[in-house]
Amino acid sequence: MSVRFSNEEFARVKQFVPIYEWGLQILMTKLNIIHEDLKNFQDNSAIDHIRSRIKAPESMAEKLHKMGLDITADNAKKHLRDIAGIRIICPFATDIYFLADILRSLPDVRIVNEKDFISKPKPSGYRSYHLIMEIPVFFSGKTEDVMVEVQIRTEAMNFWATLEHKARYKYREHIPAHLSDELVVIADKIAELDNRMFLIHEIISLINQDSLDFYDR
Ligand code: GTP
Ligand code: MG
Repeated sequence: MSVRFSNEEFARVKQFVPIYEWGLQILMTKLNIIHEDLKNFQDNSAIDHIRSRIKAPESMAEKLHKMGLDITADNAKKHLRDIAGIRIICPFATDIYFLADILRSLPDVRIVNEKDFISKPKPSGYRSYHLIMEIPVFFSGKTEDVMVEVQIRTEAMNFWATLEHKARYKYREHIPAHLSDELVVIADKIAELDNRMFLIHEIISLINQDSLDFYDR
């Protein structure tokens, strides 16, 4: 059985969703500027791509239900910190920390919470860097702070998280032990792969530097 907002509550959800969209747009604009500046002016490819989404009301309702809360618009606003979400995909884990530093230094936004699931992966094997950010949005003559969840991860971490999320959904959070054990093993292998790819990247960078030096001579 799927849980849902009542018609009345759903109407109230529809009223607050635009505010999250605006907050998301403001932060996306800041991130797109950073992305373009890094790429075009600093020859830095720390960001591969950025995605954003607003949580569907059905998913809000399901999450509130899971949290044991009444399915109301007020509870969604009060208890869900990922109604607006951004995912930044980076080539390498080192890029993730570089970007987290940049996000921390952004003016006009506040970091509410930070979790490093890369140095401390979840028991599931999940790896990512999470920031909850608060973005001031000015409208109707007042400013309201909007929370946006930012997840920063490598392509490999994303590949894993997407598959594990599917498994979680399919088995309704109760992934059979043989699969969850396998997922933990794969998550470790993926982290090793990320590291080994990074080493090759470092070696290639050095070679390029050498050849540049040679032609510069
Ligand atoms: P929720 O997990 O969303 O209820 O919030 P929380 O306060 O526990 O935050 P946390 O930082 O643990 O997780 C936030 C989000 O990270 C989730 O909504 C997922 O998108 C993602 N996430 C966290 N843990 C896992 C995991 O084990 N597997 C996958 N695939 N995603 C995860
Ligand atoms: Mg969680």
